[in-house]
Amino acid sequence: MSTDHYDVLIVGAGVAGSALAHALATITSKLRASPLRIALIERSMSEPDRIVGELLQPAGVAALQKLGMESALEGFDAIPVHGYCVVQSSRNVHIPYPDGRQGRSFHHGRFIMALREYAKRAPGVDVIEATVNNLIECEHTKRVLGVRATRPSTIGDGSKGEKESFYADLVIIADGCFSNFRNSVMGKSAREPATRSYFAGAILKDARLPMPQHGTVALVKGYGPVLLYQVSEHDTRMLVDVKHPLPSDLKGHILSNVVPQLPASLHVPIHEALDNDRLRRMPNSFLPSVEQGGKYTKEGAILLGDAWNMRHPLTGGGMTVALNDVVIISKLLAKVDNFTNWDQMSDLLSRWHWARKPLSSTINILSVALYDLFGADDECLVVLQNGCFKYFECGGNCIRDPVSLLSGIAPSPSLLAYHFFYVAFYSIWVMFAHPHLVNNPVNGEKPILARPPVWEYPYLLFKSFRVFWTACVVFGPLVWSEIRWW
Ligand SMILES: Cc1cc2nc3c(=O)[nH]c(=O)nc-3n(C[C@H](O)[C@H](O)[C@H](O)COP(=O)(O)OP(=O)(O)OC[C@H]3O[C@@H](n4cnc5c(N)ncnc54)[C@H](O)[C@@H]3O)c2cc1C
Ligand SMILES: *[C@@H]1O[C@H](CO)[C@@H](O)[C@H](O)[C@H]1NC(C)=O
Repeated sequence: MSTDHYDVLIVGAGVAGSALAHALATITSKLRASPLRIALIERSMSEPDRIVGELLQPAGVAALQKLGMESALEGFDAIPVHGYCVVQSSRNVHIPYPDGRQGRSFHHGRFIMALREYAKRAPGVDVIEATVNNLIECEHTKRVLGVRATRPSTIGDGSKGEKESFYADLVIIADGCFSNFRNSVMGKSAREPATRSYFAGAILKDARLPMPQHGTVALVKGYGPVLLYQVSEHDTRMLVDVKHPLPSDLKGHILSNVVPQLPASLHVPIHEALDNDRLRRMPNSFLPSVEQGGKYTKEGAILLGDAWNMRHPLTGGGMTVALNDVVIISKLLAKVDNFTNWDQMSDLLSRWHWARKPLSSTINILSVALYDLFGADDECLVVLQNGCFKYFECGGNCIRDPVSLLSGIAPSPSLLAYHFFYVAFYSIWVMFAHPHLVNNPVNGEKPILARPPVWEYPYLLFKSFRVFWTACVVFGPLVWSEIRWW
């Protein structure tokens, strides 16, 4: 049994863990006589093969630049992303990122390997391949002192995995969405992630998107939306949102209910992909962040990334939030001279919590609110979805601001609230003033486009209140989840 003492120990070399190891090591190496001793413990250093984290928003690209890691996006066939294209029935609306800003889409595994390379090269960082089994706590104070972990070789040869102990002044948990240590660190303030839907993922070969180099969101009547983005020269990721509970025949559901509503150019590649490949799926979880430090969480440990805070992946914001968190906390941690002083650490955690709010709240709230609209499953949400689509069709600031919010370029919850409620009122206006498909009054057969007749106004007025109320019920609890502090 070997023991090792580090200044900082990071569990999980995913997006957040790898970036933090690099950032903390490089910032502190300039400030200190000897570099910090950092351990980055990851259960598998081979290239991850997952359906998550494949589109990085412009604000995420900017965060990588701030961390000095921008070349993590180069050297493999990452695709520039210039914005979004939202597809409803046969209509498209183009939503470009403002001012020529760009995001990137790529195979998740290749990006992670590039981030890990940065971590390996950083001064004072030991990258250790081992699975963390449990936290080591002080018997009396319950302070986290380190972790016990098993190296893969000891599992592979059939011998009993001997656990090794690693000690550190500070343990940072970045083990992702299925975190094993979240509840133990959060203690009484622990909350379960809420999962309302899943993404089923497949790779389409040589598919032609309605707008190349744009994230594509296809709205599907009666079901969750479909996301598509090119991740390499020949590969396009398709993520189909399927509501909880999952149907027993997932492929059948997608083929018969979803595919017919997607652009025709995609039908063949989708059929081929579903024939040749297994569908993979991930839960789409929402987990608001709780404040850490002080009396809220366990001494000696910090949660970072998906282990702490998750939002719906519809808007592709997870990595952007995680990288922005790393930018802020690495600067704060670099100033700390004694990581075991929990009063000082608690103060730092509180500052971090509020400094990240503008960006993380905007992205978190928008992801779930937009999912409610795009996955509309009641009459009022359908009205809001229609209104939202028509709002985008207005162009100008009706797309510039929303896409700036979504991509992290405009970290402003108040701007988000403004546009959300603007959409709500606009949806109500659309209900009264725009033509809809209605039954043909002459022969009752083919539906025609017509404005609602005046005698329907009282009913529509009543419905307007319900639509507005629905908007409040979508938005209110999300705001509350961001401002409550326990
Ligand atoms: C379906 C889906 C699609 C998504 N699409 C996007 C997108 O397009 N854009 C975007 O920005 N975000 C997206 N996200 C969110 C994004 O994937 C996450 O926010 C991001 O990966 C979080 O990074 P992380 O470092 O916290 O966790 P991860 O990147 O998951 O890293 C966790 C690491 O910890 C390791 N680990 C876990 N347990 C242990 C252990 N016990 N011991 C040692 N190591 C361990 C894992 O092997 C892994 O390497 C998506 C999420 C989902 C579910
Ligand atoms: C760090 O802080 C702890 C707790 O406040 C204290 O016990 C310890 O002596 C400090 N270490 C140094 C090197 O100052």
